[in-house]
Amino acid sequence: MTKYVIEGGTPLNGTVTISGAKNAAVAILPATLLVNGTCRIENVPNISDVRLLLRILESMGAEIRRLSPNTIEICCRNVRESEASDALVRKIRASYYLIGAQLGRFGHAKVALPGGCNFGPRPIDQHVKGFEAIGAEVEQLEGYVCARAGEGGLTGGRVNLDVVSVGATINIMIGATLAEGTTVIENAAKEPHIVDVANFLNSMGAKISGAGTDVIKIRGVKALRGGMYTIIPDQIEAGTYMAAAVAVGGDVLVQNVIPKHMDTISAKLREMGAKVTEYDDAIHVQRAGMLRRANVKTLPYPGFPTDMQPQIAVCMALASGVSTIRESIYETRFGYCAELDRMGAMIKVESKMATITGVDQLHGCTVHACDLRAGAAMVIAGLAADGTTVIEEAEFIERGYEDLISKLQGLGASIKRIETSGSEKAG
Ligand code: EPU
Repeated sequence: MTKYVIEGGTPLNGTVTISGAKNAAVAILPATLLVNGTCRIENVPNISDVRLLLRILESMGAEIRRLSPNTIEICCRNVRESEASDALVRKIRASYYLIGAQLGRFGHAKVALPGGCNFGPRPIDQHVKGFEAIGAEVEQLEGYVCARAGEGGLTGGRVNLDVVSVGATINIMIGATLAEGTTVIENAAKEPHIVDVANFLNSMGAKISGAGTDVIKIRGVKALRGGMYTIIPDQIEAGTYMAAAVAVGGDVLVQNVIPKHMDTISAKLREMGAKVTEYDDAIHVQRAGMLRRANVKTLPYPGFPTDMQPQIAVCMALASGVSTIRESIYETRFGYCAELDRMGAMIKVESKMATITGVDQLHGCTVHACDLRAGAAMVIAGLAADGTTVIEEAEFIERGYEDLISKLQGLGASIKRIETSGSEKAG
């Protein structure tokens, strides 16, 4: 069990450097199964979700060398057709990418159904629809997804997604990379990490075009060769530090970001009264006066990301007037609101909408990190609050934020980590 203890009330000042994108890394690592050679991947975030995926790949026979905290060399040439360890796979949502990667590499896959944060039902029917469209038969049996290519292998094909799904878009792209024919994904998701996975595969020899638009075309190739790739900066980690600077107050330079990826978040924080200045690869966030109310509706990229919903809620909890958040991606993602209320926030949740009446001050108390981004919101709230905040189950936060404690300490925050018992947990 991991706890964070925060003494709040100190403005954040200084520079923070953003790590590589979690949701790109957790797709690129399984995708290395397709590569006949060694991949050297830079800017890999050293977070528990990534460490878990590396353990899964290693247990399958991948040879992995960590050249530095954020550079990994991985060679999957000797990976056997064996299944990945169920116990590990069930701990992490992104293990669903092993289905596309095994199917592409071996023509068949058997993977335990993935776990992940609990935001209500998280089906994988669109992944299945895509695999079937490219020539596989897929069954879900006793907690496993089993996929098998038809006699002549994967043929490629056309799939129109019924919902815009990040996971399905990437998984189909991975599955189709080594197929015989051409695959077209319509109504594809457009998140920056989708472009990053396509760029990684293309740099190893794939032929993928259109990533970042809603139609992606994958011309199957015979093989991928090894090479080097650098993962993009994490949009949500950057947004979290920006929201922290706004909620707590202060003057923070968030560096190693792609400002274009931050447009919707920057615009919302400006609307709320922050000064946000963009540079080539950095964003400067300043907040002096009172924050203004705002409305947010979460949407697929380039809309406001659902993964920034809890963090912006803390800004709203401290803004003047009544703000609203409408969640349109997940059934339930407001579990953290009860924890914020315990700190003095005034939030009413009805179905997929939260109505937040701003208060002058939050107060430290013991709260619980319900999931990764909810935990990040608790950290921001604790930094903004008066007194001491203790965040329990903080291991959730370490699934997705590299060196959060030292990065915040570097901005002047008083935050420490206490390990009470047990081992590393991944969600
Ligand atoms: N959906 C379906 N069927 C499917 C797939 C998705 O109905 O086959 C629905 C989902 O239930 C949801 C919506 O489509 O309502 C969007 O889900 P999506 O597939 O885009 O999400 P995901 O792939 O499961 C990834 C990120 C999440 C992030 C979402 C949305 C990874 C490993 N996870 O999840 O990241 O919230 O996209 O952007 O990439 C996080 O980092 O904290 C996190 C939860």
